[in-house]
Amino acid sequence: MKEICILNKKNIVLGITGSIAAFKAAELTSRLVKAGALVDVIMTEAATHFVGPITFQALTHRPVVKEMFSLLQETDIGHVSLGKRADLMIIAPATANTLAKLVYGLSDNMLTTTALACRSPILLAPAMETGMWENPATKNNIGLLRERGLNIIGPVEGTLASGSTGTGRMVEPVKIIEAGRCLLGRNGMLSGCKVVITAGGTREPLDPVRFLGNYSTGKMGYALATTARDRGAEVSLIHGFTTLDPIYGVDDIVVETAEEMYNAVLELIPSTDILIKAAAVADYRPVSKAHQKIKKSKESRSLDLLNNPDILQAVAEQRKIHNRPYVTMGFAAETEDLLKNAREKLIRKNLDLIAVNDVSAADSGFAVDTNRVTLLEKNKEEHSLPLMSKQEVAEVIFDKVGAIWAEKV
Ligand code: PMT
Repeated sequence: MKEICILNKKNIVLGITGSIAAFKAAELTSRLVKAGALVDVIMTEAATHFVGPITFQALTHRPVVKEMFSLLQETDIGHVSLGKRADLMIIAPATANTLAKLVYGLSDNMLTTTALACRSPILLAPAMETGMWENPATKNNIGLLRERGLNIIGPVEGTLASGSTGTGRMVEPVKIIEAGRCLLGRNGMLSGCKVVITAGGTREPLDPVRFLGNYSTGKMGYALATTARDRGAEVSLIHGFTTLDPIYGVDDIVVETAEEMYNAVLELIPSTDILIKAAAVADYRPVSKAHQKIKKSKESRSLDLLNNPDILQAVAEQRKIHNRPYVTMGFAAETEDLLKNAREKLIRKNLDLIAVNDVSAADSGFAVDTNRVTLLEKNKEEHSLPLMSKQEVAEVIFDKVGAIWAEKV
């Protein structure tokens, strides 16, 4: 199975205006094309002074549109066709001048005309000097564009074309793409659905510098959170320590211990439709945490451990009180008797679905980009998946979870 991103085969119109940040539009274009998007670039005259159209033509393998009537040779169109067929229009960079034109509905070039005719969501990534950004005229324009439903990302603080530092720098292409993915997915199958994902490992402190932990990196849970977001869900990601970047458009909740994760999950449960627990939660914690670093000594030491609360079991209890549909899914990290142990957890934790992964295999489970899972539902045959990227596994899981959810509501 090939990894399919929501951008795949989507018609994206990318408008580029006259700012030094126009060079970043090349990276943006390249990333969109690599994700499978069909990108039509429209440049203003000013933009062509910063980067040549040939760059974008080479990246998209499509003609770059600059002239108002250059599309007239195509059959179905005039000057509004690109806007009509777009799934998403992005203007990056968007100058103060173009923002003002959009406010007044001007259509004096191909880009503003397309934006005016566009029926898809529009995402603007402004870039300008701080003084222009902070000018009341621009502030007012941004407010009006937001009110009309246009989406604005950035600008951020950083070094500007003038060499000064301040707010006005266009956000990085990766962020623009994430924001675009959110917009494309917002009417997806999980639209209106509240999804909670847990990811990463918990850490149970022994003293100020040591803890009991595990090898979870959060990769599996992050892939699930991204997939849920791209399908339109409102996603909260509760995670332990990780080196992964926060996911754009996802509520990021950081915890350390199993007890903190327990509290964070239980707080959200009353309003949660779908819970997926991909986190590796410590079953035990030290009875007490030493206030000072435990000193080395010649004698051997033993560690007294307490049971941590089982979060999924507590969720099952809580949910008996709430009379509303929900889906609960767990992961089983096993090294032996995979199916038997997972089926036992499916029943004991009262889950709709469990994904069992063999965490002793080198290419599956903890810390790698791939996973090999089997999905188990009550009273159903198991569904074994081949080795896949964690993103692909997440897609299959949400096909299944979405179907279970649709049956319940
Ligand atoms: O983060 P990665 O590096 O990408 O690795 C992914 C993963 C291997 C961590 C993930 O795929 C995985 O298997 N997660 C579950 C790990 C685990 O804790 O499994 P378990 O069999 O011990 O627990 C079963 C289920 O109960 C899990 O959903 C777990 O979150 C939950 N649990 C466990 C203990 C506890 N006290 N409360 C819980 O809710």
